[in-house]
Amino acid sequence: MSTQVPSKGRVAVVTGAGSGIGFEITQLLLAAGTRVAALDVDPSGAPESALPLAVDVSDAAAVAQAFDEVQARLGDVDTLFANAGIGSTADVLACSPEEWDRVFAVNVRGVFLCAKAVLPAMLRRRRGVIVNTASVAGMIGLRDRAAYCASKGAVIAFTKQVAVQYAGDGIRCNCICPGTVDSPWVGRLMDEAPDPAKRREELIARQPLGRLGTPHEVAQAAIYLASDAAAFITGSGLVIDGGITAA
Ligand SMILES: NC(=O)c1ccc[n+]([C@@H]2O[C@H](COP(=O)([O-])OP(=O)(O)OC[C@H]3O[C@@H](n4cnc5c(N)ncnc54)[C@H](O)[C@@H]3O)[C@@H](O)[C@H]2O)c1
Repeated sequence: MSTQVPSKGRVAVVTGAGSGIGFEITQLLLAAGTRVAALDVDPSGAPESALPLAVDVSDAAAVAQAFDEVQARLGDVDTLFANAGIGSTADVLACSPEEWDRVFAVNVRGVFLCAKAVLPAMLRRRRGVIVNTASVAGMIGLRDRAAYCASKGAVIAFTKQVAVQYAGDGIRCNCICPGTVDSPWVGRLMDEAPDPAKRREELIARQPLGRLGTPHEVAQAAIYLASDAAAFITGSGLVIDGGITAA
């Protein structure tokens, strides 16, 4: 019998569930019968059968309140997918201190606050899985992504610390490291380029597999890490990038 998500009757929280990768993770969980709380600043786009909760993951009080509500309405959380994140297109010189803080508030503080909110119940039950969404940007330097690369590197390091800290308590913590994924976010980035079609071709050209990833492919990797099939995996970063970091 499966003890963790995805499976019937289990409970998961997905942040950033209103779009892209988080939306797909939520869909896969719901299809398996898992009850899902969809946390997002704008949860209106989340799959219908999820419990939508409007929350900014960088707001400590709001995150704590949201997890209390999930506990009251769905029960103990088996798995947290801390997936909400924002981008930033600037090198060190162009990145203002305010921009740096904004990116870290969502991408790093948000992941920390969600772990902090979910861990007490996981420790009490001596069971739970956390899957954070990092990025290949946390592993390699990408041009014009100073704050973003640093924030995702922090997510990878935080993932390892949590994994080691709670390995003896029945809790696993891993992260996914997607490459360039054709989500609404990347679509917006391409639309903003002077020549969107050329920008898409450039992004595809750096992919050894010759195409961008899909949110669905990334979601499947996240679900795998949450499942019992990954019972011996903790503290790792699963790279889903079409070979970009291997090149
Ligand atoms: N798309 C890619 O190429 C790619 C690559 C590597 C990593 N990632 C990571 O994957 C995650 C999801 O990205 P996506 O491509 O699906 O983006 P997306 O913009 O399509 O979805 C992100 C969701 O997060 C929500 N969100 C943003 N800030 C929030 C906040 N403060 N609190 C709560 N929700 C918030 C947004 O409303 C949105 O619904 C991010 O962490 C991103 O860094 C994406």
